[in-house]
Amino acid sequence: MAREVRITPSILNADLTNLGHEISRIAAQSDLIHLDVMDNIFVPNFTFDFERAVQIIRECPIAVDAHLMVADVDAIAPAYAEAGCSSVTVHAEATRDITSTLRAIRKAGARAGLALKPATPIETYADCVDEVDMFLIMTVEPGFGGQKFMHEMMEKVKRTREVIGDRPIWLQVDGGVSMETISQASEAGADVFVAGSAVFNAEDPSAMILSLRNLAISASQIGR
Ligand code: DX5
Ligand code: ZN
Repeated sequence: MAREVRITPSILNADLTNLGHEISRIAAQSDLIHLDVMDNIFVPNFTFDFERAVQIIRECPIAVDAHLMVADVDAIAPAYAEAGCSSVTVHAEATRDITSTLRAIRKAGARAGLALKPATPIETYADCVDEVDMFLIMTVEPGFGGQKFMHEMMEKVKRTREVIGDRPIWLQVDGGVSMETISQASEAGADVFVAGSAVFNAEDPSAMILSLRNLAISASQIGR
C-alpha cells in the first residue's frame, strides 16, 4: 500500500500583506498550511508574534501546521495548540523538557511535532518516538525560505523512517523542496512536504502543489 502523501505549503514567502488571498489560491490543494514562527533569537529572522499568529490561525480556512523556531519554546508551544493549530512542531534544540512539552501539545488537542536542525542527529531523540506524531527533518538551516535543499539529509530521513517503524508517525521535510528535490525526499521515506518558494513563486501555485504531490506519490512507491 502506498504511503499517504501530504503537502503543507509554507506562507513564509507569500505576500503577507494579502494573506487571505494568498491562502485562498492554494487551500483546495493543500493538506495543511505551514506557519513558520521565528523570533529573531532561535533563528536570525522574525516573522510573527503570537498575537498575529493567532489571527492567521483563526482566519485560515484549513488546518494549520505551526513550525515554532523560537527560543524558550516550552512556554509557548501549548498556547499554539490551544489557539487551534492542528499540529505544533518544536525544535529539539530549543526545548528544555521535550517530553513534557510534547505531552502538553497533545493534551491541548494538537499533533505534536519534533524538529531537528541539520546538525542534530535523530539517534539522540529516538527515545521520544512514542511522544511524537511527526518528526520534522530540516533540509536547510532554519531561518529563511528559498535556500538550497541539503541532499545529505536524505540519510537522516531514512534513519528516521527506521526509528518510526510501523508507527503511524508522519515524517516531514522542510526547506528547498521543489520539483527537483521532492522525489528523493519521498524515496528516502518522507511523507509530509513543506514547500514555500516552489509554490509561491510558481505561476500557478495550486497546479504546482498538484505536480509536487504526484511526484511524491510516484517516488513513495519506489521507496517502499
Ligand atoms: C525555513 C522554514 C521553511 C521555509 C521553506 O526555516 O522553516 O518552512 O519557509 O521555504 P522554501 O520551501 O522556500 O525552502
Ligand atoms: Zn518551516
